[in-house]
Amino acid sequence: MTPHSALPAPIIERRFEDSGTLAEALADEVAARLDHALSERERASLIVSGGSTPISLFRELRTRPLPWLRIDVTLADERWVEPDHPDSNERLVRRELLQDAAAAANLIPLKTPADTPDAAIGECSARLSHLFTPFDVVILGMGNDGHTASLFPHTAALDIGLQPDGDALLVSCHPAEAPHARLSMTLSALLNTRHLVLHITGKDKRQVLEKALTGTEIRAMPIRALLQQNRTPIHVYWTG
Ligand code: 6PG
Repeated sequence: MTPHSALPAPIIERRFEDSGTLAEALADEVAARLDHALSERERASLIVSGGSTPISLFRELRTRPLPWLRIDVTLADERWVEPDHPDSNERLVRRELLQDAAAAANLIPLKTPADTPDAAIGECSARLSHLFTPFDVVILGMGNDGHTASLFPHTAALDIGLQPDGDALLVSCHPAEAPHARLSMTLSALLNTRHLVLHITGKDKRQVLEKALTGTEIRAMPIRALLQQNRTPIHVYWTG
């Protein structure tokens, strides 16, 4: 018989009619989690992803009346471009999340002046070490190739990036199929949270998720590492 501890953590799905309704519900959930954390301690931590999916969520969340001054925000991953580059996740978060009530939040960027993400791992890990852990909320997206954060299929980054109990917080990634070198939180860091969310929209992403759920080869679809682990329940918010 399979020992209970070997079973994967639960996957809790919430399906929505459209992305706007999803964004409102997810913003309410995230705000409630942060509010609860701040009733227990001085600071709360929120880890968000880049890409296009979270924009509607950010626009909702930034209006929630939280004590944002006490909330630390950082990224699950960053593309190695200047913070004013259109592809910068930091730029996205500044423009779309750190507005309205949320302008007071403390953003911890993952970009440094270093030439490569490899050379910035030490400094960025030190920045993250000031955050309260387990993180209060981690929100991830997923690419159509099955990547999450910047853990891309068949990259060398996966050797360290997919260790479920490794010590490393960050890993550099040089995806052949996506623009820019990246810095990504590792699976181990991402799972160290009280509330883990996978936010996906569209039929294509749903099909990618179904494919990930029915196969086992993790390096081909790193999102499987989240779906198959037994440490942290995963809340899938989706519409499509
Ligand atoms: C990034 C991400 C990445 C993203 C997915 C989905 O910086 O590229 O954090 O993991 O979540 O690629 O991106 P979309 O939301 O644009 O589909």
